[in-house]
Amino acid sequence: MRILLTGSKGQLARCFRDRLPEDWELIATDSASLDITDSKAVRQMVHSFQPDAIVNAAAFTAVDKAESEKESAFATNAAAVAHLAQAAREAQARFIHISTDYVFDGNGKSPYRESDPTNPENVYGKSKLAGELLALAAYADSLIIRTSWVFSEYGHNFVKTMLKLGGEQESLSIVNDQIGNPTYAGDLADAIVRLLKETTPPRGIYHFCGNRPVSWYEFAQAVFQTASQLSGTPVPQLSAVSSEQYPTPAARPAYSVLDCHKIQNEFGIAPSDWQKALNDMLRKA
Ligand SMILES: NC(=O)c1ccc[n+]([C@@H]2O[C@H](COP(=O)([O-])OP(=O)(O)OC[C@H]3O[C@@H](n4cnc5c(N)ncnc54)[C@H](OP(=O)(O)O)[C@@H]3O)[C@@H](O)[C@H]2O)c1
Repeated sequence: MRILLTGSKGQLARCFRDRLPEDWELIATDSASLDITDSKAVRQMVHSFQPDAIVNAAAFTAVDKAESEKESAFATNAAAVAHLAQAAREAQARFIHISTDYVFDGNGKSPYRESDPTNPENVYGKSKLAGELLALAAYADSLIIRTSWVFSEYGHNFVKTMLKLGGEQESLSIVNDQIGNPTYAGDLADAIVRLLKETTPPRGIYHFCGNRPVSWYEFAQAVFQTASQLSGTPVPQLSAVSSEQYPTPAARPAYSVLDCHKIQNEFGIAPSDWQKALNDMLRKA
């Protein structure tokens, strides 16, 4: 299988590269070699490589920055996704795109299903929702996987930020009124490889995330407990605070738990065992 991967220096892309079956051919492009907002470059790349599948791991992921850089967020997360989907359709390639739990407003009380109404609260969520809609409009066979709270050994993420801050400060205040599912990027990458192996290509929207919802505060507790058990990392004093006490430029959903039954029932793909993944990741660190 020939894969064109975008955003190849990001967390998901690097995990995907680590898990690529040996006999698959990969063109891994980063923002320097293929800026996905350049529709002409996208079309040329797809035309010359003729991939069997395009995996779009590129995104404008800076949630707070998106509030002041709306145009860039929409260019990358919406318009560019349409170009990629269109190019995939023209090449008769599969198109796999990643979206987010932040397409929901978080007012729900039970895990969000794929069919539940969306209502993003911030610019990032709005741009990602626009990307979903544009992808499906350009190419109905697009496969969109919504995920949440992604962490890995690569790039920037909550786990790495916590450990860095924990080494610098004796106490940390962490938001306790936003609930979501941490997801290990390697497990998401495994799920993508698995879906690419399906002979009847899946299409439409699927949710994939971690198996146990927590607040950011509880996630931080899990990070420090694991790090402390594995390597004696000192645990800072953790204080649970409300979103009101910790204002950020972008509002975030209070409850963005995704229901992952559809992907599990149809393909036997279990949710990410994020606590195990966290343990494995910190053991290797
Ligand atoms: N991280 C999360 O918590 C989270 C949660 C829910 C959903 N998601 C979604 O999951 C997917 C993967 O996220 P991730 O955490 O792996 O992201 P990431 O680590 O931030 O990586 C994103 C990559 O996209 C690249 N990129 C940005 N603009 C680009 C452009 N115009 N052209 C080409 N590449 C570009 C970035 O390159 P530069 O650094 O060079 O700009 C970066 O390497 C994204 O679709 C994201 O929206 C993530």
